[in-house]
Amino acid sequence: MTTSASGEEPVAEQFGMTKDGQAVELFTLKSDTGLVAKVMTRGATLVQLHVPDNDGKSADVVLGFDSVAGYESEDNQYFGCTTGRVCNRIAKGKFTLDGKEYSLAVNNEPNHLHGGGEKSLDKVVWKAKSFSNDKGQGVRFSYSSPDGEEGYPGQLDIVVTYFVPVTGNRLNITYNATTDKATPVNLTNHAYFNLAGAGSPSVLDHTLRLNADRYTPTDDTLIPTGAVDSVEGTPLDFRKVTKIGQRIEPLTGTGALGYDHNFVLNAPEAGKKLVLAAALREKTSGRILRVRTDQPAIQFYSGNFLKGQVGKEGKSYAHRSAICLETQHYPDSVNHSNFPNTILKPGEKFQSTTIYEFAVAGTEGNGKGDGAKKKL
Ligand code: GLA
Repeated sequence: MTTSASGEEPVAEQFGMTKDGQAVELFTLKSDTGLVAKVMTRGATLVQLHVPDNDGKSADVVLGFDSVAGYESEDNQYFGCTTGRVCNRIAKGKFTLDGKEYSLAVNNEPNHLHGGGEKSLDKVVWKAKSFSNDKGQGVRFSYSSPDGEEGYPGQLDIVVTYFVPVTGNRLNITYNATTDKATPVNLTNHAYFNLAGAGSPSVLDHTLRLNADRYTPTDDTLIPTGAVDSVEGTPLDFRKVTKIGQRIEPLTGTGALGYDHNFVLNAPEAGKKLVLAAALREKTSGRILRVRTDQPAIQFYSGNFLKGQVGKEGKSYAHRSAICLETQHYPDSVNHSNFPNTILKPGEKFQSTTIYEFAVAGTEGNGKGDGAKKKL
């Protein structure tokens, strides 16, 4: 046993009750280096994520609510949740698999979004089991989605594990799933980040770098055309560090209303091994977020639908005051045979990991450690 945070098994607190009377539990995971994550059983959701700034001062850098009612309200735009069974869009809510046509909820006219209606993964209450070992602390959330739930075929057994290593200020999210019938699966976390602290007015001054030469162009309803195009010469070129606000204006008049695009990760091992997908920085706090994933793509969404709703501690979440970096497969993959496969079959194991890693600018680029090497 160690005396660090890893020695203590995270204890469940009551976070509240759902409208239909289910108890929702909240767990706190801590590193020894200042990261604190709070996760709840409704939607296997990341509720709080505190990380230190340049001066060692912590702030909660993700949007969310103080109560279950907040998460159940219209103001909740998938804040911090586990998203699925298929995150992002499916054209007209239809797909054909093994000769059979399936119809899903059309909850984002005219398309299906983020797994559908009342029983999408963000809305159900998951079972939870916390654990700790000498490497860190975690919570394993599990949910068994019955055959036909939200229109999807097969019983899907899903485990989402949040893990905070003892050092390094990282939050690791691992997804595992198995099925008893062929079914599409695309899982992500929908955390909204503002590295100056949730509730800060804008993310347009944050800088972003994306490890992506290509993206999937869409129609006006954000359904991919099937093409995979170069970002060269477009406002989507984030191959060099660029302010989010620098080229966003021309996108305001498009269906995306800003950034809401699927970027194809171009590292040779994207889709197999963890690659550095994105790096986000905020100058005043010095905070840096690096996103690593084994998924083939990342949806960069600039909070275009945020509308000033009131979240945690009474803070309001203005238009474009947070961004999502959602690691995933391409949207509408189930209707595009040229996109990487999202069909999980009986006997197969779906497994995927995404790591959110935090640093501060002051400790990097000093020629020591691996800060300089890791720079994206
Ligand atoms: C995703 C979508 C956006 C929006 C948000 C939730 O990022 O791509 O268009 O639906 O989720 O509001």
